[in-house]
Amino acid sequence: MAQVTRDVQQAAEWLRRGELVAIPTETVYGLACNGLNEKAVGQIFQAKSRPSTNPLILHVPHLGAVQGLVRDLPPLARVLMERFWPGPLTLLLDRAPGVPDAVTAGLPRVAVRMPDHPLTLALLAALDFPLAAPSANRSGYVSPTTAEHVKAQLGDRITGILDGGPCAQGLESTVVAVEGGADGRDEVVVYRLGAVPVEALRAFLDGLPGSPVLRLHTAVGTAPPSAAAPLAAPGLLSMHYSPLTRLLLVDAWDDPQLAAQLAALPPGARVGWLGFTDLPPAARPGAPSRLLSPTGDLGEAARHLYGALIALDGTGCDLLVAHRLPPHDLGAVMNERLTRAAARHA
Ligand code: TXA
Ligand code: MG
Repeated sequence: MAQVTRDVQQAAEWLRRGELVAIPTETVYGLACNGLNEKAVGQIFQAKSRPSTNPLILHVPHLGAVQGLVRDLPPLARVLMERFWPGPLTLLLDRAPGVPDAVTAGLPRVAVRMPDHPLTLALLAALDFPLAAPSANRSGYVSPTTAEHVKAQLGDRITGILDGGPCAQGLESTVVAVEGGADGRDEVVVYRLGAVPVEALRAFLDGLPGSPVLRLHTAVGTAPPSAAAPLAAPGLLSMHYSPLTRLLLVDAWDDPQLAAQLAALPPGARVGWLGFTDLPPAARPGAPSRLLSPTGDLGEAARHLYGALIALDGTGCDLLVAHRLPPHDLGAVMNERLTRAAARHA
C-alpha cells in the first residue's frame, strides 16, 4: 500500500529511483514520475490503465525549465506563462528530441505546466528532471482532490502519496496552444476547458497588442466528444470524469425529464442529489446529497465538485441527479465535466 507522506525529500528520493508518487497540485492530484524516464512513464499508463494514445503533461518548477523540453517558445506562449504561471494553464509546444515518445503519445507537441502548490514546487526544485503527471485517478474515473481519494483509487499500485491537503481549485488545468491564424495573427486555441476560465483568457488576450484571437477547438465543450475531431486533443475523445453510478444532469429541479426518470425507477430505488445552492423538494429527507456552494460561489463549487461526485458514488444509489451550474466562468467548466460524466450512461 502506498506510503502517505508530507516529506518532500522522501518523495524526491522515490522519484529519483524511477518510482510512482502522487503529488498535490492546485487543480487535482497528479500521478508523477520522472518524465524523462521512459520505463517509469510506461508504469504510469499501467497503473492508471490509461490508453497509451493519451499523452501526459510535464510539470516544471519555473519557466526556464521549459527550454530543454521544447524546440521553440513562441513569444505569446511565453507571455501566457508569465501571466498564468504558477497556475492551471497547460501549454502545448513543439517537443524537443529528448522528450520520450511515451510522454507525448508520439504527437509532435508536448504539454507543459508549472503547478501552484508549495510542496510540489519544492519537490520540482529538488529534482533535475520534469515530472510527467496525469490526474491520479484510474482511467475514466473522477479526478482526485485529496490524498484519500488517490489512496482509494491507486493506493495498491504506487509507491507513495505526497499529501498536500485538499486541492485549492479542484478542476484540471486549461490546455491551450498558440497557433498561427489564417490571417497571420496569433491564435490561442483551447483544447480542454479548465481552471483558467475562457473568460479570463479572453480578457487577458484583449489587453495585449494585436488582441490575439481565442478559439475553442472543435472537440471542446461538446459531449459526447466527436470521434471525427482531429487527434490533436486525444484526451477529449474518451469519456472522462465519470462516477460509476448513472448520472442525470438537469437544467432545473422542475425539469420534466427528471420527473419522468424518477417515475420510471423501480420501487425502493435510491436517488442521490448534487445541488449548487439548493436541493429539490423531490429529495427525501436523509437521501444522500451534497451542496456545492450554498452561497452560490463558483470557486467553492469547483473545489467541492469531484469530492462530492466521489462521495455520492460511494453511497450505493441507483441514480445520481446533478443540477447544472450557471453557464459562465468555472460554471461552464463544471457543466462540461458533468455533461461528460452523464454521457457515459446516456
Ligand atoms: O490540472 C491538470 O492538468 C492535472 C494536474 C495533475 O496537473 N493533470 C491532468 O492530466 O489533468 P491528464 O493527463 O489527466 O489530462 C491532460 C490532458 C489530456 O486531455 C491529454 O490528452 C492532454 O492534456 N494532453 C497532454 N499532452 C498532450 C499533447 N502533447 N497534445 C495534446 N494533448 C495533450
Ligand atoms: Mg485526467
